[in-house]
Amino acid sequence: MKYLKYAVIASLLIGNVEAAGPMGMIPNPMKMGMPDPMNMMHDLMNRTFDVNDADSQLMMDEAMKMAEQGNVMEFPWTRYAIAYVNSGDPAAGAKAHKKLKCHKCHGNEGIGEDDDSPSVAGQISAYTFKQLYDYKVGLRKDKDMQKKVRKMTAKQMADVSAYYASLQREEKIKSDTIPHLAKNGDRSRFLFACEKCHNEKSMKRGLQTPIIEGQKIGYMTDTMMAFKEGDRENDHYRVMAKIAGKLSDEEIEALAEYYAAKPADDEDEDEDDDD
Ligand code: HEC
Ligand code: HEC
Repeated sequence: MKYLKYAVIASLLIGNVEAAGPMGMIPNPMKMGMPDPMNMMHDLMNRTFDVNDADSQLMMDEAMKMAEQGNVMEFPWTRYAIAYVNSGDPAAGAKAHKKLKCHKCHGNEGIGEDDDSPSVAGQISAYTFKQLYDYKVGLRKDKDMQKKVRKMTAKQMADVSAYYASLQREEKIKSDTIPHLAKNGDRSRFLFACEKCHNEKSMKRGLQTPIIEGQKIGYMTDTMMAFKEGDRENDHYRVMAKIAGKLSDEEIEALAEYYAAKPADDEDEDEDDDD
């Protein structure tokens, strides 16, 4: 099939090489010492592809069908998928957010009231789409979310992702010092600095790297602990699992405190938080 051929070529280019199925035969370029394919996505996101909508739709239908049949593969980051996610309609997403009652936990504007439901406002659309896909196929596990996403169509997922990306994110708590791990990492443990990936420039490149600034503190701590303990395993190449696995619980808490939004219960003390 024509699209399959292109999908394989695109996979080679942008790194969907650990997927099961026909693409599983292609070696992982990272293991061969080649540049990180996530970085190669840079132009891909902002380029208008010579990909027609019908092919994108076909590719997405195929991925969804495989998922429904229990044939789980990692999210296929092909140019078709990117074109599909980019075609999301924020206005339709706003409607879906209400209709599917996502606002009950994630708030009307993508920021929920309690600290355990992640903020989705201002998140990179490709990241959001990937998470919804991961819940749908069961690569990421959470009872409520898996139930919610079961009924969503790929179109609704793309629309909601576009809607969330258009919303204003909560500001990160103010702090004068940056934790060493966030800024420099730790060579002795082969730890990259968080900022190496979670910064504005590379996030635009690595489409699936989320914005963590201004995230809910409870959620952020929980999800890092889940990466550490193997309860969250949907990260490509186990990037975050490897990192979180080397962090102590105290380091995780300190990083969450640094990046997160102000906890919901000290909303009032605004002016003078000088720590
Ligand atoms: C009952 C509360 C609840 C409802 C309703 C709900 N969510 Fe969630 N959502 C959560 C929680 C809790 C998590 C974190 C779960 C985990 O740890 O995997 C989450 C995770 C997510 C994430 C991943 C965020 C990230 O930063 O990784 C996205 C995206 C998301 N939800 C979107 C939606 C959408 C779209 C809907 C509506 C179709 C929805 N949620 C409905 C509670 C809810
Ligand atoms: C090599 C790149 C890289 C580095 C370095 C990195 N991350 Fe990540 N991080 C990722 C990617 C990619 C994801 C998304 C995984 C997925 O697809 O679910 C992620 C996800 C996360 C999430 C989940 C966000 C959410 O909304 O659920 C948190 C929190 C996080 N990282 C924190 C950190 C912290 C803190 C550090 C530094 C100790 C760090 N990361 C270092 C690439 C990186």
